[in-house]
Amino acid sequence: MNDEPSDGVDDEFTPAGDDGPGPDVDPGPTVDPHTQRAAVRDGYDGMAATYRREREAAEAPLVESFLDDLAAGDRVLDAGCGQGTPVLNRLPDRVGGVGVDLSASMLDLARDRTDTALARGDLTRLPVAADAVDAITALHSVIHVPIAEHPTVFREFARVLRPGGRLYLTAATGEDGWSGANEDWLGAGELMAWSFPGLDRTRDQLREAGFRVTDERVLDDTVADDDGGAWTHLFARLAGE
Ligand SMILES: C[S@@+](CC[C@H](N)C(=O)[O-])C[C@H]1O[C@@H](n2cnc3c(N)ncnc32)[C@H](O)[C@@H]1O
Repeated sequence: MNDEPSDGVDDEFTPAGDDGPGPDVDPGPTVDPHTQRAAVRDGYDGMAATYRREREAAEAPLVESFLDDLAAGDRVLDAGCGQGTPVLNRLPDRVGGVGVDLSASMLDLARDRTDTALARGDLTRLPVAADAVDAITALHSVIHVPIAEHPTVFREFARVLRPGGRLYLTAATGEDGWSGANEDWLGAGELMAWSFPGLDRTRDQLREAGFRVTDERVLDDTVADDDGGAWTHLFARLAGE
């Protein structure tokens, strides 16, 4: 696995006007898709400690149940693992894993929480071999990927997952797509950007990549006292086996 990604994007932020707000995102400026990845990487590099402090894992029981179903020797990819919670710190001893993230600072925090292998990399070009993992978790990460690249991420998930492997993905709620940014997310003074094609579109994109959605749960957003936000927790299985 590589540990240095090539972002292939400018390091510059270009505000691109207003857009619809997401469930937990201030309706601030959107970020040009070309620069979104760099903005997200630099944003998390600058606010890793703040995010770790604010992160509450309301979904911990869902994560534990997902991990409980893994067999001895199975491997999990935590895609956009961030600070190493709530997945990598809960990996059972019988299970192997790897965490991939764009942000070096988030990976530094993850090293405090886990002995699992960690790699710096991009969800659209995972530094993971084909069919290498039995399960993927992607909690609150795909929503940061520029909207046109969500199908690429799901195809990458299908590539690295063995046939019949399982995916646990969080998505926003609602059918309307949106992109948005917050120039001072969590009061950390860092720009952060999100994009979401709408829940039905996400389901379609998963299907097009070879996944069958097997379950969905909606949980409140618990980060930084955001009001009224909710996340859809999607469970899916890759065709095959
Ligand atoms: C909101 S945090 C979530 C971290 C952790 N999964 C959690 O649930 O708390 C989003 C993480 O996704 C990572 N991320 C965003 N876009 C990414 C991309 N294109 N490739 C890899 N990681 C990405 C960010 O660096 C950040 O660590």
